[in-house]
Amino acid sequence: MMAEPLFDSAEFRQVCGHFPTGVTAVTAVTAGGAVAALTVNSFTSVSLHPAKVLFCVTSFSSSFPVLMDADRIAVHILSQDQEDVARRFATSGLSGEQRLDGVSWVPGPDGVPLLPDTPAILAGRRDEVITSGDHVIVLIDVDRVHLKPTDVPALSFYRGRFVTPSRTTE
Ligand SMILES: Cc1cc2nc3c(=O)[nH]c(=O)nc-3n(C[C@H](O)[C@H](O)[C@H](O)COP(=O)(O)O)c2cc1C
Repeated sequence: MMAEPLFDSAEFRQVCGHFPTGVTAVTAVTAGGAVAALTVNSFTSVSLHPAKVLFCVTSFSSSFPVLMDADRIAVHILSQDQEDVARRFATSGLSGEQRLDGVSWVPGPDGVPLLPDTPAILAGRRDEVITSGDHVIVLIDVDRVHLKPTDVPALSFYRGRFVTPSRTTE
């Protein structure tokens, strides 16, 4: 049996928020054409051979049913000049289609929406999903990558805010 934690979920979230992350825009499409679009910072690469990445999604997300049924998923690693996309894709009350309405996108393989202005995109088929607590870990078998060289640094998220890293060292 697990011991009761000595903190509440707001404190847990605040502590986890001290870990700075990049910000991604995830898009997905089902075989039936349903679309999801959401902002995600729980992204990480998992495996080189074969190429796999993952992100975590809350089962309370409006995007959850589409992601569970998704055929293809694309992860867009956003730059600082795409903060508007990150905010739009995190807006409650908008469907995936409505979130995409406000941004420039093109249909990729099997219709997954791709945001061509993004510096780095990883796209592929949904692999395993692992339920853990109130989130699901979504693994993706990456079969396409796109790079768009840019001098604009990555968008970052730290302590609940979008931030601009002030210094870069070699
Ligand atoms: C910077 C940032 C990172 C986020 N990361 C995640 C994440 O990793 N997993 C997740 O399920 N939701 C994450 N969200 C929330 C989703 O973007 C979500 O779609 C948004 O809160 C609206 O969801 P709703 O349509 O279910 O109300 C994040 C939001 C922001 C602003």
